[in-house]
Amino acid sequence: MRTAVYPGSFDPCTNGHLDVIKRASRLFDRVVVAVLVNSSKQPAFSVEERVNMLNAVTDDMKNVEVRAFNGLLADFMKNINSSIIIKGIRAVSDFEYEFQMALTNRTLNSELETLFLHTSQDYMFLSSSIVKEIAKYGGCLDGLVPDGLIPVIKSRFERSDK
Ligand code: PNS
Repeated sequence: MRTAVYPGSFDPCTNGHLDVIKRASRLFDRVVVAVLVNSSKQPAFSVEERVNMLNAVTDDMKNVEVRAFNGLLADFMKNINSSIIIKGIRAVSDFEYEFQMALTNRTLNSELETLFLHTSQDYMFLSSSIVKEIAKYGGCLDGLVPDGLIPVIKSRFERSDK
């Protein structure tokens, strides 16, 4: 059984992330979405909230599971016995950093392969940071994040612009 891991902060999950998860779920027997617990960035959503949001939007994909992880991705990969890391690439500007991470992970474990899925055209500009910026100023999140997540994302930022 081929298991691939899609790691990230998912703070919060966007339609761009969901698109990558859906496409990966068609390519692999099992996809583990790995949510980083301790990011150097201060997340807007706790790891439990991020995991819950991802579980809600991947409920219909039976070969997708969501896990939190702490520490090195290379160690997590070993723990769940997978060697395939999935990353989404939006633009050339993403590439340098992603290439650095892929080579770092390969240095830590020579069996790791990072596969890049290009973004769908509709989500080229989309990021969790953009979503948070729009939410902060009360803007419309339609089409940017899964519909079911809009209330919870909006409510997190409701007070900060008042
Ligand atoms: O969604 P993000 O913030 O771009 O995801 C980055 C993530 C979580 C994939 C990356 O920061 C990561 O793998 N962190 C775990 C720590 C680690 O393994 N670092 C060494 C590889 S650069």
